[in-house]
Amino acid sequence: MLLKLTLLLLLALPTLALDNGLARTPPMGWMSWERFRCNIDCRNDPKNCISEALYKDMAERLVEDGWLKLGYEYLIIDDCWSFTSRDSRGRLMPDPVRFPNGIPKLAHYVHQLGLKLGIYADMGTHTCAGYPGTTLEQIQTDAQTFAEWQVDMLKFDGCNSNAEEQQQGYPLMSKALNATGRPIVYACSWPVYRGGLPPSVNYTLLGEICNLWRNYYDIEDSWDSVLNIVDWFFQSQDYLQPASGPGRWNDPDMLIIGNFGLSLEQSKAQMALWAIMAAPLIMSNDLRTLSSEARNILQNKAVIAINQDPLGIQGRRILKDEGHIEVFWRPLSKSASALVFLSRRTDMPYRYHSTLSLLNYTTGSYTAYDVFKDEIVFLPSEKTHFTITINPSGVVMWYIYPDESWENIEEF
Ligand SMILES: *[C@@H]1O[C@H](CO)[C@@H](O)[C@H](O)[C@H]1NC(C)=O
Ligand SMILES: *[C@@H]1O[C@H](CO)[C@@H](O)[C@H](O)[C@H]1NC(C)=O
Ligand SMILES: *[C@@H]1O[C@H](CO)[C@@H](O)[C@H](O)[C@H]1NC(C)=O
Repeated sequence: MLLKLTLLLLLALPTLALDNGLARTPPMGWMSWERFRCNIDCRNDPKNCISEALYKDMAERLVEDGWLKLGYEYLIIDDCWSFTSRDSRGRLMPDPVRFPNGIPKLAHYVHQLGLKLGIYADMGTHTCAGYPGTTLEQIQTDAQTFAEWQVDMLKFDGCNSNAEEQQQGYPLMSKALNATGRPIVYACSWPVYRGGLPPSVNYTLLGEICNLWRNYYDIEDSWDSVLNIVDWFFQSQDYLQPASGPGRWNDPDMLIIGNFGLSLEQSKAQMALWAIMAAPLIMSNDLRTLSSEARNILQNKAVIAINQDPLGIQGRRILKDEGHIEVFWRPLSKSASALVFLSRRTDMPYRYHSTLSLLNYTTGSYTAYDVFKDEIVFLPSEKTHFTITINPSGVVMWYIYPDESWENIEEF
């Protein structure tokens, strides 16, 4: 059954992806928005305002604290970087006080460290925070500017434009980026502004023009927000899951682990579910003050390997509401798979009993690696009963492989 399902999922994958060779696995990195928003008060809050200094700080942390080695390579500037008007030639320009050396210098600095730079623009008259937007007429100029600045990723938001302008603008920007000759990952916010689901959203088209796209509302610093996003994504999985694949990803938004809204258990849950969803792993936190607990979760090699699996098949929720336990499954390369058991309970650690055959695994013996506990669980047969303890608003995540493929699996 599992094999059949895997095959079906593979066949269901549309074949076309944006042909720029980028984002073959979900992009990983850091973005300013959720944690630092539109804080432009550099006079009173110099360490936390949107500025060259903030991005340089984060760039250094990404390299020195081992993030880059694990794949977190994109440093992404979000809204509020620009000046309140365009320059005399009609080109976007950064705020001269907060970015005194300009974006090309910042790009150079970031590249020297081995990182890549992302930037933000908005399809519309103004960005969401009210800075100059990119109208249809300005798309080519802005694509050219970003390429000249040596930018490696563009997040193209959609505030202050209507459906028709978006219908024209998002494909036009894709063409304009391609025409620059510079490989630039293209992240589209288009679907959010059209409700995220067919028929208003055409995921076939999105996969042809964008590398990733935001389907749903912005994440906020709370468990409610994470659950709301998780619920929407898995309720919509029949539409979203087949839309995703190498070069074309659904984006449930940033990882907020290390901020203020999530407990340790909830932090593990966000990480696990983002890995199941083949979601971009873009942190928005303060890497300068991250706790070691948060760092350990975000740097968990097994979870990252699951997220970055080369097959790039998004996972699904396969069971719901058994004592408020939900089970999620993702097929991986080398006949492996991942399971996440999420507890939505609010009482106490819950002892959950099951077998792999109840989760539709085929005949065989399996080994499960508990990625957060760093423990091995042997399952001599698909019928072997197991009991796991799942904490309230927490997860147990297993990396599972059939025993015959043991040598093929990386050790963590
Ligand atoms: C532009 O598109 C062509 C055809 O789809 C592709 O071969 C090429 O690699 C793309 N170039 C860039 C820079 O994205
Ligand atoms: C969606 O986009 C694809 C690719 O551009 C196109 O072939 C298809 O007709 C579109 N579907 C709908 C329902 O508009
Ligand atoms: C297992 O497969 C059966 C038959 O296709 C299906 O009804 C059931 O929902 C599946 N269960 C899980 C947990 O995937």
